[in-house]
Amino acid sequence: MGQLLKIVVFSLCVVCGFAGYTTFGLPLIIPEAPPVEEKLTGEITMDQYIALGKKIFEGKGTCTLCHNSLGRAPLLEQVAQVAPERLKDPRYKGKATTTEEYIHESMVEPSAYVVAGFGKKGTNDTVSPMPNISKGAIGLSDVEIGAVIAFLQDVGGTEVTVALPSGDAGAGSTEEEPAEIKVAENAKEAFSKFGCDTCHMHPLIEEGGDMGPDLGKVGATAGTRKEGYSAERFIRESIVNPNAVIAEGFDADTMPDDFATQMTVSELDMIINAILGNESS
Ligand code: HEC
Ligand code: HEC
Repeated sequence: MGQLLKIVVFSLCVVCGFAGYTTFGLPLIIPEAPPVEEKLTGEITMDQYIALGKKIFEGKGTCTLCHNSLGRAPLLEQVAQVAPERLKDPRYKGKATTTEEYIHESMVEPSAYVVAGFGKKGTNDTVSPMPNISKGAIGLSDVEIGAVIAFLQDVGGTEVTVALPSGDAGAGSTEEEPAEIKVAENAKEAFSKFGCDTCHMHPLIEEGGDMGPDLGKVGATAGTRKEGYSAERFIRESIVNPNAVIAEGFDADTMPDDFATQMTVSELDMIINAILGNESS
């Protein structure tokens, strides 16, 4: 009897699993939950602080959205090594005197020094397209910024000069981290979840960036941009395959091209609707 029950249960599982698969089509690729944030309570070693910096660099800080092999922002593996040269450059306008201060300043006041060739178009490398990462959508705390600097000094093979945070300073800032990625419930959440707000503006985005076109203006002309494409189809393609059409005045290979593998269908649809101007929440 027990044996029979087991067989029945097993068969049901197989049938349900198969039915689930065919009913809903191909399984969606849901992004991996981010690593649980290290709690900075009590004592923390420099190795842990550097590891936290790496996590922030690749995750919450959204640094790798721009600082990646696509080449639209300088790679940062060597920044700790080149910092002393930056400070000597006649174009340097900031107040930093050490590598640590230079990296800190680059994050909160990016235009103090603009790496040649990476400035905002038309500004002759005087204005950086990088947002102040202590504000707006990214909003890193001092402890988190310190962790990122420690990480960048460490990968650059230079001495880590950042001081470890005191237990109290760390506690508050990292514990509020959500432990897992939720499917966004509306377009506003989706814009922030995928980091669209670091490069784009839109009425649903509070403090957007301007490395890419203003998404509040794209809907109006989207239907005329590509022969035979409706506005909806044009926007969809622009998100899943950004290099198909390059918006005038902007560069190719800037926008990440892997959003299709990270978004659920509902998230993509909400974003498209918002850009079309069909959604107001
Ligand atoms: C929206 C794109 C974008 C994001 C997001 C971004 N950056 Fe940048 N960053 C740039 C660009 C472009 C430059 C080059 C222009 C300049 O010097 O400001 C730059 C320059 C820098 C520099 C100076 C590099 C050098 O060689 O002197 C540092 C340091 C830096 N970023 C750190 C960071 C960190 C850390 C993060 C994440 C917390 C981050 N950036 C997020 C675009 C971005
Ligand atoms: C690292 C910066 C960056 C991020 C992050 C980014 N984009 Fe872009 N995006 C750009 C740039 C630059 C362009 C213009 C070049 C091009 O057409 O590919 C662009 C173009 C577009 C366009 C086409 C605009 C037009 O007028 O042709 C759409 C739509 C768009 N992005 C939507 C999004 C959405 C939605 C997200 C988030 C899921 C996002 N982008 C994330 C930089 C970015």
